[in-house]
Amino acid sequence: MKQEFFPRLTPPELLYAARYAASFREGRRPLDPTASLDELRRKFNRPLPVEGRDGMDIIRDLIEAAEPGLVGNTDPGFLAWVMGGSHPTGVAADWLTSIWGQNAAIYQCSPAAAVAEEAAGAWLLDLLGLPEESSVGFTTGATMAGFVGLAAARGEVLRRAGHDIEKSGLAGAPPITVYIGADAHVTNHSALRYLGFGNDQIRRIAVTDQGVMDTDTLAEAMAEPATARIVICQAGHINSGAFDDFNRIADLCEAHGAWMHVDGAFGLWAQASPRLRHLSCGVSRAQSWSVDGHKWLQVPYDSGFAIVRDADAHRRAMDVTAGYLNHSPEDGRNPTEYNPELSRRARGFAAWSMIQALGRRGVARMVEGHCAAARALAEAIRDVPGVTVRNRVDLNQVVLSFGMEEGVEAAAAYAQAVAKRLNATGRYFLRTAVWRGETVLRISVIEDGTNRLFTEKLAADITEHWNAVRRTAR
Ligand SMILES: Cc1ncc(COP(=O)(O)O)c(C=O)c1O
Repeated sequence: MKQEFFPRLTPPELLYAARYAASFREGRRPLDPTASLDELRRKFNRPLPVEGRDGMDIIRDLIEAAEPGLVGNTDPGFLAWVMGGSHPTGVAADWLTSIWGQNAAIYQCSPAAAVAEEAAGAWLLDLLGLPEESSVGFTTGATMAGFVGLAAARGEVLRRAGHDIEKSGLAGAPPITVYIGADAHVTNHSALRYLGFGNDQIRRIAVTDQGVMDTDTLAEAMAEPATARIVICQAGHINSGAFDDFNRIADLCEAHGAWMHVDGAFGLWAQASPRLRHLSCGVSRAQSWSVDGHKWLQVPYDSGFAIVRDADAHRRAMDVTAGYLNHSPEDGRNPTEYNPELSRRARGFAAWSMIQALGRRGVARMVEGHCAAARALAEAIRDVPGVTVRNRVDLNQVVLSFGMEEGVEAAAAYAQAVAKRLNATGRYFLRTAVWRGETVLRISVIEDGTNRLFTEKLAADITEHWNAVRRTAR
């Protein structure tokens, strides 16, 4: 019987890797890499083999070479950046994605991959409270999701201005003015560059101290004449976690015929929580949204979603047709019509599995739990002398500065010293960031296991190490 299903022997490297992988998350591992750059190079940089090698040997060597250079970004103590924890259910689905070796290009390459994306996409719209007619593209992350949304925006605002970009490209196209907050995530600018926008077409709008667009300034900028317009807003500022005023921005966009795109890489998940949805109020009035699965949904890397209200505009921007890319009337949707690549990983399997692993309530509970843990940290540390909480902690981000009264340079040295000491405990992986010209300790609470108890202990540790740093400085 077994022979029927497994006519070939299971390759031993697969069994070996599966066993190793299954035990990898047992116990705690170092958060910081233990190998230096030179050591890693010595392990990886080998002469190019002339003949192939035995698979088992290669996998053993790979584990030996890579493990000391891994970062513990699935650990509750990983707080440096907004990265999800690659949930085991998502990882298991991802293993199957690899072993099945499907190419989620067109429906006929993998009907299962295409339909899993269709189903996961519909759940996502429901979870995020976005218009059900929207289309969803499965991308590597929010950078490419932003690219997709903005490509659709570019095509559509030009079409409305009488220019057919699919036919004529950008040659002779009327100018598009892009409005974006001065503190928007840098990857929005990457996407704009890929799409042929330069600084001359981009109006950087002044932001508040939380990094959100000042909507009076936006209104003034939009009052100036423009032929075609795109406004890029943020759901969840990368440092403060703050949200733009979507209702006011949507009013302005509607008044000026502008396309509204929302970069909601992590913050859009506030929509999944009845308790937090007020933060993103009005976000569903936009025309396109970019959001990550590999952040708050805990899908393993890589996973992002490009969501566009006007599915035709979405498809026009990403369309791939060729005689050999067969499509029959009875086929389901072709995934490639919604993302830039033709051949790619079947990302829908992991997303479909993770949405079920958490469920509607589980997603809400997780997001709320992380935000409560971030607030608990801020509350516990707010009154410690010399510590300033720099942001309104509504979401999962906490930005701290130390000894500000001694000036910017002293504060930078303090933040770095505190981070270094905390990292040396082996419990945390923290990094400083430069925000508004000042070096701050920037904490992102997003790992599956990071809870309130954990951040209360973190607050106590920050206090202890900050006091020690200050004592030493005096
Ligand atoms: C607000 C925001 N936008 C966009 C991105 C880019 O997302 P990705 O790294 O998934 O491409 C990030 C990543 O941290 C982000 O936080």
